[in-house]
Amino acid sequence: MNRRNFLTSALAVAGASVVGGTGLPASGLAAPQIGQSLHTADRPWADIPAVALPAGDIGAAQFPKDFWWGTATAAYQVEGAWNLDGKGESIWDRFSHTRGKVKGAATGDVACDQYHLYKEDIALMKRLNQKSYRFSAAWTRVLPTGAGAVNQKGLDYYSRLTDALLAAGIRPMCTLFHWDLPQPLEDLGGWPNRDTAAKFADYTGIVAKALGDRIDTWAIFNEPWVFTYLGYGSGVHAPGKTDPKLFLKASHTVNLGQGDAFRAMKAVAPKARIGSAYSMSPGEPATDSEADKAATARFHAINNVWFLNTALRGKYPEGFAGGIPEETMGIQPGDDKRMTAPLDWVGINYYRRTIVSDNGNPTAIPPYTERPGSEGPITEFAWEVWPKGLYDIVTTISNEYNKPIIEITENGCSYGDTPYGPDHDHVPDQRRVEFYRGHLAELARAMRDGANVRGYHAWSLLDNFEWAEGYSQRFGLTYVDYRNQKRTPKDSALWYSKVAATGRLDA
Ligand code: FCB
Repeated sequence: MNRRNFLTSALAVAGASVVGGTGLPASGLAAPQIGQSLHTADRPWADIPAVALPAGDIGAAQFPKDFWWGTATAAYQVEGAWNLDGKGESIWDRFSHTRGKVKGAATGDVACDQYHLYKEDIALMKRLNQKSYRFSAAWTRVLPTGAGAVNQKGLDYYSRLTDALLAAGIRPMCTLFHWDLPQPLEDLGGWPNRDTAAKFADYTGIVAKALGDRIDTWAIFNEPWVFTYLGYGSGVHAPGKTDPKLFLKASHTVNLGQGDAFRAMKAVAPKARIGSAYSMSPGEPATDSEADKAATARFHAINNVWFLNTALRGKYPEGFAGGIPEETMGIQPGDDKRMTAPLDWVGINYYRRTIVSDNGNPTAIPPYTERPGSEGPITEFAWEVWPKGLYDIVTTISNEYNKPIIEITENGCSYGDTPYGPDHDHVPDQRRVEFYRGHLAELARAMRDGANVRGYHAWSLLDNFEWAEGYSQRFGLTYVDYRNQKRTPKDSALWYSKVAATGRLDA
């Protein structure tokens, strides 16, 4: 089973009752206006008015003036310099250095070498009219063993990166955890070990204290479902464990860590706007049967809001027919309060929809069977192109959680188009242009229908290390020649730069 198509396997566990809850933060949003400024430094984030787009031809929509057009990357996927300047070993260093785990025995040892080439990459973003850059900090650069003494050189790198982004007029948006857990913490049990939550919060406080004067928008986690399920349940990702119960335990520690980190960061950077980036996929029942519909609701609970409902409402959503398996998860009294965090914004990573059916066992992990949609065209990663799914998931989250502020923290596609022409300086990737155009039109529609979307980050600025798939999948707007680190913006990058400059899809 790989990530291309991780049809989930099932293992039964006993059910238990749900943890108690709290309410949502007030959103206080005013009347929508087209083309108006979304962001001024001294206004509380939640007071920024919602934005509407015109009815009619959504392809000709005008996005708001200060919409955060950006791209996203992650430390392990682009930085390289895996053991430089005091950086410690992460689970992804260990995993990729283990034979048979990553396609082509690829590693992130060098990746796109952004650790050394960040200035060039920022110049490229500027040329592409980018307003926001979502990157992640590597825990092992800051705290090489996960806890203890700070590695100043590691922190300095993120400080330099932040300053260079600000100097280029680009908002630095920092994710604190994009899957690269310090290996010494994995040796102590990793995310299934409750103690990891407090250690994580300490690390996030250190980074927020050092950079909180310059970074105002933070994501605590990237895709908690993916790194807990694929890391501990299916074993496709680091650390490669294959016990669905460990997935559930890990998920609970992550929820505690999310709450702890939120408070640790706010304590040192009170103005920080803190959210998380969640992998989300709209589920569609395979048939009209009540059983498939109920399975789809369980899929939504576990796949989409297992780490969001906990933060905003202090309780797990109803993912298991018999109740939450509290004992398996190691839930303790008081955990509901600890995992509650009134996130300032919600990050959505959208790639594709999922078709869900009943698996006859509503207490299995997971309690449903899923398969990818298969009506749309497919990308090189075998993921179906389904732009409407972005509309569906954004409006669902918007409606279910009282119109929170949303940023699209990732959306993108893998196609293998390569440089072309006498100078090898042109990468015609029309399929990617169409992918983005289609998805942005659906996003515009969701905004017109009332979703408070403030930004959009294409995955990715660069082709990069695609986890278990190594370098075989190219998600970049920019082609990277890994032999010499040459960057060549693809046609999609040129198109996206016009969108970022004009806020229009027909630019
Ligand atoms: C997401 C990950 C990101 C990248 C894209 C293709 O699930 O967050 O790091 O691998 O998929």
